[in-house]
Amino acid sequence: MVNSKSITQIAVFASGGGSNALKIIEYFKHSEVARVALVVSNKQNAGVLSIAAEHGIPTQIIDRQGFYETEELLDILKRFEINFVVLAGFLWLAPGYLVRAFSRKILNIHPALLPKFGGKGMYGHHVHEAVKATGETETGITVHFVNEHYDEGDFVFQASCPVALEDSPEDIARNVLVLEHRFFPQTIEKVILAG
Ligand code: GRF
Repeated sequence: MVNSKSITQIAVFASGGGSNALKIIEYFKHSEVARVALVVSNKQNAGVLSIAAEHGIPTQIIDRQGFYETEELLDILKRFEINFVVLAGFLWLAPGYLVRAFSRKILNIHPALLPKFGGKGMYGHHVHEAVKATGETETGITVHFVNEHYDEGDFVFQASCPVALEDSPEDIARNVLVLEHRFFPQTIEKVILAG
């Protein structure tokens, strides 16, 4: 049978609380452009798994060995007819086979204005602590395509917010998360529509 569906099937990869994943799931819930069809996580107890369950979205747990030493994940993504991948708080470096199979179809969000504060080890609170320590007056978010190097793919979108002298790393994180929730889903949609 010919598959007449043209809706883009997104797999969201997340390892944390999943607040971005939730925003993406909600944004596309009634969309004719795309929907979240799978949530992939490397953590059995990640908050994102219960979010997926509440929305009736299937989940897949992966382990490091399977991810890096086999290409089983490609079969899983195929089974769920995934044609776009979104990393939303997923910390493992994407392996070559995944990047090649989803060329310019994997987006990541980074909680800083790349190329500043990116690279290995620059995630979560480490980013915001570094922003604070260097006395930046602004920070923000970067949505970028994923390649085989941490935080180095082409940028798709950036938005910034001010950093006040008295802001703690927690304050900075909170302000950045507001930008993530506001802009990530619509940026994903724009990239899908442009592809
Ligand atoms: C976000 O800050 C994102 O930029 C980073 O990890 C965090 C994930 O938060 N990559 P959540 O799990 O979406 O709440």
